[in-house]
Amino acid sequence: MSRCASPISTGRQPLSRRRWACARRGARRTRSSSRPTGLDHVGLEVEGSAELDAVRARVEASEAAILVGGGDEPGIGPAIRFVGPGGIAYEVYDGMERRPLTIDEPLSSGIRKLGHLTFGSSEAEAIVAFWVDVLGFRISDVADGLTWTRCDQDHHGLAVAAAPEGVEGTLLHHHAWAVADWSELKTYCDNLAREDIELSWGPLRHGPGFNLATYILDPDGVMIEVYTELLQITDERSYVPIDWSEQPRVITLWGPPAGPEVLQAGIPVLAPRQVSVS
Ligand SMILES: [Fe+2]
Repeated sequence: MSRCASPISTGRQPLSRRRWACARRGARRTRSSSRPTGLDHVGLEVEGSAELDAVRARVEASEAAILVGGGDEPGIGPAIRFVGPGGIAYEVYDGMERRPLTIDEPLSSGIRKLGHLTFGSSEAEAIVAFWVDVLGFRISDVADGLTWTRCDQDHHGLAVAAAPEGVEGTLLHHHAWAVADWSELKTYCDNLAREDIELSWGPLRHGPGFNLATYILDPDGVMIEVYTELLQITDERSYVPIDWSEQPRVITLWGPPAGPEVLQAGIPVLAPRQVSVS
């Protein structure tokens, strides 16, 4: 399994009934739309038809997942769609149209790729089990109620935190995008300042994955992380997952602590829909 994508509906409606802590906090920017803001599905690419067939077989054998059809979206290969624990919808596809890099068109500055998604859920344990047993992810690190998993050499592609006790549901806390290095991250922050967009959190260095990170809220209330220097796990045999529970610092090794805006962030996962786009 390699690479992640996360189509996010950009309709802007109040989320108050489906949010956790924000449910009691009220105001958030809205505009009229027939669709709520939320996560539509998580897209994951497999390497070849054999791997797609294997995922399909594991999904069919899993009591936790429901197949809801296959994607037929422009630009991607054969795909299957299913819904797993926590109501998270996935699309697993074999191949995507890509344009090769050339010497005349080298990698540009700015965002390099969508790197990871982090959820919060009252079904965190079941979600992690599904990622590992059905999707084939591997656990990278754990902390109290938090699990980071990977499907390639990036330290994490999917992560989930347990919901506070008594809170039900699943939220996407943030989606994260990689830039090349610290200098690029600095340029990104400079550009935000020019646009009068304040950082919600950071710059900081996380513990799990050791990435340098910044966070902003987009106009729809979706938390976005831009990061660099995420730990690369190139030798699967020698990597030992870290249990951060006993460490003095976990989420923030240095940098400002997370404020209420970050702690209360999250958009709902949307009800699955049958997708067949021509
Ligand atoms: Fe993150």
